[in-house]
Amino acid sequence: MVSKRGTFASRFGVVAAVGGSVVGLGNIWRFPYVAGENGGAVFIIIYICISLLVSVPIMLSEFSIGRSTKRNSMRAFNKLAPGTKWKFVGYLGILTAFVILAFYCVIAGWALEFLREALFNNFAGKTAEQITENFNMFVSSGWKPAIWTTVFIIASVAVVYAGVEKGIERYNKIFMPLFVVLLVGLMLYTLSLDGAKEGASFLLKPDFSKLTGRTFLNALGQSFFSMSLGMGAMITYGSYIKKEENMFRVAGMVAATDVFVAVLSGLVIFPAVFSFGISPTSGPELVFITLPNVFAQMGAGYIVSVIFFMLLFLAAITSSVSLIEVVTVYIYEEMRLSRRRAACYVGLGTFIMGMLSIISQLPGSSIKIGGQNLVSFFDHLSSNIMLPIGGLFIVIFTGWVFAPAKFKAELTSNFKYGVKIYPIVYFLIKFVAPVVITLLFLNLIGVI
Ligand code: PFF
Repeated sequence: MVSKRGTFASRFGVVAAVGGSVVGLGNIWRFPYVAGENGGAVFIIIYICISLLVSVPIMLSEFSIGRSTKRNSMRAFNKLAPGTKWKFVGYLGILTAFVILAFYCVIAGWALEFLREALFNNFAGKTAEQITENFNMFVSSGWKPAIWTTVFIIASVAVVYAGVEKGIERYNKIFMPLFVVLLVGLMLYTLSLDGAKEGASFLLKPDFSKLTGRTFLNALGQSFFSMSLGMGAMITYGSYIKKEENMFRVAGMVAATDVFVAVLSGLVIFPAVFSFGISPTSGPELVFITLPNVFAQMGAGYIVSVIFFMLLFLAAITSSVSLIEVVTVYIYEEMRLSRRRAACYVGLGTFIMGMLSIISQLPGSSIKIGGQNLVSFFDHLSSNIMLPIGGLFIVIFTGWVFAPAKFKAELTSNFKYGVKIYPIVYFLIKFVAPVVITLLFLNLIGVI
């Protein structure tokens, strides 16, 4: 049933691989636009608190479930609570992975188109209006996003095809640090633009009048999405973590990196947003209409834009790989298909979903749900509903169903690490996280 499972070779390998899943379009593309729509600084404060108090405990829960069972997420639940309905949390995760892939690959396709534009030096000399116009023409052409999405899906499946150690670990070790360095450089540049101050204060000076229940749910959803939580990705990755590894440290490093890169990306984007007179509430296209303006003006714009979109593509692929991996592992362990064949089927499913999303973005398309195109619909559905529901079940399971002694032994690697902070983490898992998520849902449906 479970054949030849790989494990990560080193601590840096674990952090790099998990970090590769975690750091992606969620940080660079999604965080700025959601922060922009939710008031900037207030959102960031809540986002950081939720990441610490809710997301990190969920990550530790997922790691523990994965490492203690060494199974795909559905079977992990089945092993820890045999004969119960908990395995449906695993199924929910697989469904969620598909919903995310359906729009993730489309946005990653945008990054590839922008890489092409950067390579041909197409941003140079363009005005803000021309850049926006170009973007709209690209999306409404239909066939261009379709080609890039397909290229991206093929590339992702190829990485999963190669397997965990070779495929995932190797890339991330090099590219992640490089990305951080580039972002810091870009931030220094955009902060020096005319009118940048307004952008910086939008991110740093909280306006509490903008705070609503939805701000909290959006922050929770963003945090889960960004840390790849609530759908079993970290259960799957946890199953590759060695028994001797200190999971507190891994989760801490990964969460810190994730929040850092997201805020950094905000600090790159918002000074430029204000400097170029773009609306902070532009929605999903925010980053794609803002950055070309920066590159068009920058002295070294050509080379920086090429490297940036290349790294964005790599950040996206290491995340999409983890999404595909969750479903692939499930199919190949449960349906006894080869890993490779399983990866291809998942690629095909993703392709179909991705094409539907692209068609729904065409002008006049009738594929809309609640007035939204499928990219926006899947985006909101996954982050604000499916991941929080998955996360809620995972913490309830860990806090109330997972035998406490067994959980403690697993999380602390047999009482070796984090024994002192364990009670705090357990309290967060057992009470704080479930209560917070439940309250936010009750608020969403209008009960409170
Ligand atoms: N965390 C990824 C990002 O920030 O881009 C997206 C993601 C990957 C979400 C894997 C969920 C997941 F399981």
